Amino acid sequence: MRFFLVHILLLLFQNIHLLNITTMISEKLQNAIKEQITAEMWSANLYMSMSLYLKAEGFDGFAHWMKLQSQEELEHAYTMADYVIKRGGRVTVDKVDVVPTGWGSPLEVFEHVYQHECHVSQLIDNLVDVASAEKDKATQDFLWSFVREQVEEEATAQGIVERIRKMGDGAICYLDGQLGQRK
Ligand SMILES: [Fe+2]
Repeated sequence: MRFFLVHILLLLFQNIHLLNITTMISEKLQNAIKEQITAEMWSANLYMSMSLYLKAEGFDGFAHWMKLQSQEELEHAYTMADYVIKRGGRVTVDKVDVVPTGWGSPLEVFEHVYQHECHVSQLIDNLVDVASAEKDKATQDFLWSFVREQVEEEATAQGIVERIRKMGDGAICYLDGQLGQRK
């Protein structure tokens, strides 16, 4: 009986390490993703600010499009946070800087969206470089979906800018209605 108890205790001690969650993502990479999460939240605020501006200017359709864009950015922040947690890391919400509040025409707003998406693409590329330097294949794989997403984001914003430029001010209400149909 005594031998049996000792044996059970020994088994418990041998396997206790299995109860500890192992961190599978480096501190450096965790911090880099945390910075990107803050950038995604800044993007969400930027697009919310644009949405409120466009609504105040009477462009309900553009405002709706921008609101969905803002929600998408917040989703990106959650997706990245969930990934870090899944890999045994830790994330906290950081301070988010203030965003611009005023623009000119809808064309100016969408030109800003395009420029901002190009900037975000650069940030994601830099993040892939950090994951690569850390030899973290899983994180590189996770980030490729964001690299692909940025290709779409840039193309969409550029497409809207070109449509506004080509169609001119006279068709702005028509475009407002079209973008208001975004689901
Ligand atoms: Fe994003």
